[in-house]
Amino acid sequence: MNTPVRRIIKKVQLLIGVFDSGLGGLTVARELIRELPDYSLIYFGDTARSPYGSKSAATVIRYSIANANFLLDRGAQLIVVACNTASSLATSALKERFSVPIFEVISPAVQMVVSNRKSYRVGIIGTRATVNSGVYEQKIRSFRPEIKVLSNACPLLVPLVEEGWIKKPETRRIVKKYLHPLKMRQIDTLILACTHYPLLKDIIQAKIGKRVKIIDSSQAIARDVKKFIEQHPEIKDRLDKRGQYQIYVSDVTEHFQEMADTILKNRVTLKRISI
Ligand code: DGL
Repeated sequence: MNTPVRRIIKKVQLLIGVFDSGLGGLTVARELIRELPDYSLIYFGDTARSPYGSKSAATVIRYSIANANFLLDRGAQLIVVACNTASSLATSALKERFSVPIFEVISPAVQMVVSNRKSYRVGIIGTRATVNSGVYEQKIRSFRPEIKVLSNACPLLVPLVEEGWIKKPETRRIVKKYLHPLKMRQIDTLILACTHYPLLKDIIQAKIGKRVKIIDSSQAIARDVKKFIEQHPEIKDRLDKRGQYQIYVSDVTEHFQEMADTILKNRVTLKRISI
């Protein structure tokens, strides 16, 4: 006689995992916390190897796989790639390799643009790697080929934000210079395709003009993740709902600590790990 096999199903509490090249991705974590305050989150910022924006695709892919492995080992059930550069270069590699849902910051921003019938001339600003990848342009044009896409890499903006020079006149002048070609070509929409740019949103809006609609992918991705969780009860039920967040980094300095506190508007504990 066959005895029924009794399977013990352990109820594991799982987390929303987020990674970025550094701490700029906390702008995405901040929006996720705002949209999903009850859910617990694990963040990894690769501060030791940042910036990714000036690295080759092969290196960004290698780092992104290591970052995702770290989050999965710590209980992530879905992964949010907060970094625009990693989203542009490593999404396909991550989706091929891992079976958990992977969210990237590009698609939600693209959806916001293509669903707005008033968008015809779209500007994109990001790191050199993001702009050179052409991913935003390809995605936008696959939905609405009539949209004119104009991109400009703004490599100085990440270091300016990291230096805390958000309100300095020099930063305002550099933003103005980077936006000039887009303004001249009368864009109606501007995508902030970099984790750090939401911190410069007011200056960017002032320089590009009130008429231009600014798309911030950090808000868009948070809304997408929320929608996905609500539509997937099998995942929703298993996610930890103690509203706790853990922030891991591959290097800690006083400067990183200040940046994390500024973005999350709170004193946060950075835990250092080497991966
Ligand atoms: N996180 C990167 C991005 O959003 C900016 C910083 C970097 O270059 O690593 O593209």
